[in-house]
Amino acid sequence: MSEDTLANLLIEDRSFEPSPAFAKQANAKPDVYSLAEDRLAFWAEQAARLTWDAPWSEVLDWSGAPFARWFTDGRLNVSVNCLDRHVDAGHGHQTAIIFEREDGSSEEISYADLKDRVCRAANALTGLGVGAGDRVAIYLPMIPEAVVAMLACARIGAPHSVVFAGFSAEALRSRIDDAEAKLVITADGQFRRGDSMALKPAVDEAVAGAPTVEHVLVVRNTGQEVTATDKDVWWEDVVAAASAEHTPEAFDSEHPLFILYTSGTTGKPKGILHTTGGYLTQAAYTHWAVFDLKPDHDVYWCTADIGWVTGHSYIVYGPLANRATQVIYEGTPDTPHKGRWWDIVQKHRVTTLYTAPTAIRTFMKWGDDWPNQFDLSSLRLLGSVGEPINPEAWMWYREVIGGGHCPIVDTWWQTETGAIMISPLPGVTATKPGSAMRALPGISATVVDDHARPVADGEGGYLVLDQPWPSMLRGIWGDDERYVTTYWSRFPDVYFAGDGAKLDDDGAIWLLGRVDDVMNVSGHRISTTEVESALVSHPAVAEAAVVGASDQTTGQGIVAFVILRGGAEDEDIASKLRAHVAKEIGPIAKPRQIMVVNELPKTRSGKIMRRLLRDVAEQRDLGDVTTLADPTVMNLIGEGLAASKSDD
Ligand code: WTA
Repeated sequence: MSEDTLANLLIEDRSFEPSPAFAKQANAKPDVYSLAEDRLAFWAEQAARLTWDAPWSEVLDWSGAPFARWFTDGRLNVSVNCLDRHVDAGHGHQTAIIFEREDGSSEEISYADLKDRVCRAANALTGLGVGAGDRVAIYLPMIPEAVVAMLACARIGAPHSVVFAGFSAEALRSRIDDAEAKLVITADGQFRRGDSMALKPAVDEAVAGAPTVEHVLVVRNTGQEVTATDKDVWWEDVVAAASAEHTPEAFDSEHPLFILYTSGTTGKPKGILHTTGGYLTQAAYTHWAVFDLKPDHDVYWCTADIGWVTGHSYIVYGPLANRATQVIYEGTPDTPHKGRWWDIVQKHRVTTLYTAPTAIRTFMKWGDDWPNQFDLSSLRLLGSVGEPINPEAWMWYREVIGGGHCPIVDTWWQTETGAIMISPLPGVTATKPGSAMRALPGISATVVDDHARPVADGEGGYLVLDQPWPSMLRGIWGDDERYVTTYWSRFPDVYFAGDGAKLDDDGAIWLLGRVDDVMNVSGHRISTTEVESALVSHPAVAEAAVVGASDQTTGQGIVAFVILRGGAEDEDIASKLRAHVAKEIGPIAKPRQIMVVNELPKTRSGKIMRRLLRDVAEQRDLGDVTTLADPTVMNLIGEGLAASKSDD
């Protein structure tokens, strides 16, 4: 976050009380915070939202800290909680998913239908030799089969690892390898901006080097031609042919539900592990309380991709556990026009919209005329996630999209936390534009200084979570030690989130962005090291340093400084390197700018001084450079900046 924004925070004094009408009907009541003071009793009560096949004996076993066990000995099936129990209770006809395609056609899938599809898929997976504990990689676009695939895995106890379909073959391969996935579920292609883009070739490339993969299950989505391999099996053959009868098995509360890879401060992504009972409890509770879900009236729409944790917790598990009716959209916000989202809100009478600040800022840029052409009066609640939302974007969201009357929930959480941790409760909390306000009931968050001492109101520091929570990660797949050192070693006995935060004079929490070498680009976490490794894997690059520079639309933009190998000068080098990074990681990791430099600023011990590079990238005054080995380096870099902006 820039200095300007920080300064703005200090003068932000607007506050919006909940309207009496909203408060009256809200799921969350003002006494919930005091009722939740006994955290374990509170979470035990929330766990009762779920249907358990065997009761738990203990709410929390923290004896193996920082490895938690929640609702020990309890047994349940996640897909039964998301589907069967709603059908059994007479809600089979209710629409679970309104699937909107880019071309404007749509399809409604009822809970009964979704359950049948999941049962067929579960039987098909079993037929392919996938059993409880086996890992399944899912590389799919935003189509109903993605939800079906995830729930089918959950149904048979096979942890899924969803890989964002925008990631490269290389990124997919490393995730398949790390989890030793037995099956990959993918599609022929996906629709984007009116075109069909192939997905299958990336899978073929990834699987060619992945000995653990026995089969590739392919959904026909675009209908484009696919090169067959001997591992391929078609979804339409094996899933459609399978029986819709499936007797679910109950799994232990701590049975692994999924692995989701996220960037850390090293080049190797971390496989964040989530389990069953605690995860579903917190996903369901927070979805109910934060989004004020009314299953009989609301039409909920979370615009995230299922490749990110938001798609896991707030498209699949939370909403379906709560019997929500929701929109899923496979397409881009500007196809066929820049009012596409507002068209969808109007068409399906969406009541609840959950999206990211980067999208909101993009819409602001496109102008009020787009949303103003549509009837958005069905909206009653707006949510934000993924990065700090600046007060200007918050106010625009409130006024232009929410018509001035929708509460906004700015929800802070992470892949690791599994579910929302800090957020206003609509109907209870008076909100301030740009603040996530306070920890939810049952959650404990504090801001500490370098010495782990809580800071006073009005001061800034590091955000930590000082009590275990039900949907917390249970570790990093295959790397317990990295789990302990990454999250539990910076400060003793508390979880270090990696975010900076400030408490205002009223004790409300303002998130200030990452304090480590993780960038946040359009709400996506990308590590500087990951992009640096991708760059130096190109033969023309000798050395690379990457920083996240603040960006008006995407929050941060990736700026790379590279030193080329002798003789590698080439006019097109910037676009070649950008294409190379897209191939190694995925288009989301393409640097916004690449600067070819002769030297990089380093301390005497050889550490790259990222702060200086960030200043250059943001063209700020350089401040103190006396610890630099060669202070003149900065002048050289600064001069090179103007010439090298890339906008392709
Ligand atoms: C950032 C996404 C400020 C934060 C759910 C965190 C936020 C990282 C907010 C996690 C918010 C997420 N305000 N910052 N409301 N929500 N972040 O794992 O830096 O993709 O550490 O999970 O996003 O990103 P992740």
